Amino acid sequence: MNAKGKIIFDRLWKDYTTLTPDAKRVYDLFVQEGEDVVNDHIAFRTFDDERVNIDRLVKPLLDAGYVLKGEYNFEEKHLFAQHFEHKVDKFAPRVFISQLITSDFSEFLQNTVKEKLDLIPRQTYESDELIYQGNLWGLPSYKVYEKLREESEYAAWLYVYGFRANHFTVSVNHLKNFQSVEDVNAFLKKNGFLINDAGGEVKGSPDQLLEQSSIKAPLIDVDFEEGTKQIPSCYYEFARRYQDADGELFSGFIAKSANKIFESTDYYKK
Ligand code: NI
Repeated sequence: MNAKGKIIFDRLWKDYTTLTPDAKRVYDLFVQEGEDVVNDHIAFRTFDDERVNIDRLVKPLLDAGYVLKGEYNFEEKHLFAQHFEHKVDKFAPRVFISQLITSDFSEFLQNTVKEKLDLIPRQTYESDELIYQGNLWGLPSYKVYEKLREESEYAAWLYVYGFRANHFTVSVNHLKNFQSVEDVNAFLKKNGFLINDAGGEVKGSPDQLLEQSSIKAPLIDVDFEEGTKQIPSCYYEFARRYQDADGELFSGFIAKSANKIFESTDYYKK
């Protein structure tokens, strides 16, 4: 990957592992096993408001040599997503960006989103720095978080955490000592991590050319107007890709699997 791209991902990784130290713990466990951890993709979440939508977030990545490769609709979750790949560098991670279709939701949700985005100065949302900015609207309200959750766990997560990498993904294909996603899950469970089991612990199949799993986003302390509360942070994902009939490694995403992977940040209690 070119220097520009590397700087972007290093910076996102730093923020991501600061917010979710469990992701770094998983990474370190693989390194201890002698693995060279390769990143399959990273993902961002956003709202469809044109000030912060996919087109806006992807700008610095397009400048770093990324191009659009695929589009996905998630009807049940009211999301639209695109995935991007680096033009020349086969080792650069894919980038998956989804956006919430806010017009499908209540007036409360739409007004909350608009009100928060109105607080972002124009030079911030127009700058290449937006993807690193996190929550740009200050201390969240737990009451609002809970109310958003009734409609969309995705919106509630985004309201608290804002713009940042939502997850990184270990490429299982590049692991030497783990032959399958099941092997990875067993290893993580042995080390005390919770696997997201919505729709089964392994999403997808060899027929679909992609298998994925993820740890449930660990609970972290977050400051709210009402005081500190424990809510899910970011998660780590694991993906194994298969070759298609032409011998090419499948490079896209499977909407049905991703639909359940999104639930890795759903609220839960210890
Ligand atoms: Ni993913």
